[in-house]
Amino acid sequence: MTRSPELATRLQGFGTTVFAEMSALAVATGSINLGQGFPDYPGPPEVLDVARAAIGTAADQYPPGPGIPELRAAVAEHQQRFSGLAYDPDTEVLVTAGATEALAAAMLALLEPGDDVVLLEPIYDSYSASVAMAGGVVRPVPLHPPADGAGRWTFDPADVRAAVTPRTRLLLLNTPHNPTGTVLTAEELAFLAEVAVAHDLLVVTDE
Ligand SMILES: Cc1ncc(COP(=O)(O)O)c(C=O)c1O
Repeated sequence: MTRSPELATRLQGFGTTVFAEMSALAVATGSINLGQGFPDYPGPPEVLDVARAAIGTAADQYPPGPGIPELRAAVAEHQQRFSGLAYDPDTEVLVTAGATEALAAAMLALLEPGDDVVLLEPIYDSYSASVAMAGGVVRPVPLHPPADGAGRWTFDPADVRAAVTPRTRLLLLNTPHNPTGTVLTAEELAFLAEVAVAHDLLVVTDE
C-alpha cells in the first residue's frame, strides 16, 4: 500500500472512488460504462423549470441549516405515504447534499474511535472511508451469491452473530444493496432488528 504522507493514519490506503476509476477506464478503453448509473434521460421538465426560475431570486441565499421547511415537510409526507413512518419535519428531518454526505456525517456523529461497524460485503464504495474518517472499524458480513446462479445474494445469520461483539456500535444496512442488487426480505430485516435490539446497536439504513 502506498503511503500518502499528507493523509491522517486512519485514511491511509484510501484513494479515489470506484466510480472515478471505472469511468476513467471506460473512457480510456472506449468501453460502454456499466460502472456508474448515468441516467440517459433528463430530469423532469417541471423540476428543471422551477430550478431555472429560482436562479437570481431569494432562493439563492443560504437555506436554514436543516433544509428549507417546505422540503422537510415533503420528506416527512413521503415517509408517511410510502413507509407508514411518522416523522416531525422540524425535529426529525435533515436535508443533506446527497446520501454520501448524510452517511459520512452520521458516522462522524455516532461513532467513537475504535467502535465497530457491521455491514454487508461487498461494501458500497463510500462506507469504508466514512467509517474510517470517524475512526471506526469495518466488520464485514459477506453476502453469498445464489448457488445456482439465479436468485438473490444473501447473508448467513451465523456470520452476523459472529461479527457482532461488545465493540459493535452500529449496523450499517443497504437495501436494495449496491452492488449486488439484493433486497433484504422482511424475515432478514426482522432478524437484523432482533440482533440490533439484543446488542443495543444503532442502525443506519441507506435505501
Ligand atoms: C447504496 C448507495 N448509497 C449512496 C449512494 C450515493 O448517493 P448520493 O449520490 O446521494 O451521495 C449511492 C449511489 O449510487 C448508492 O448506490
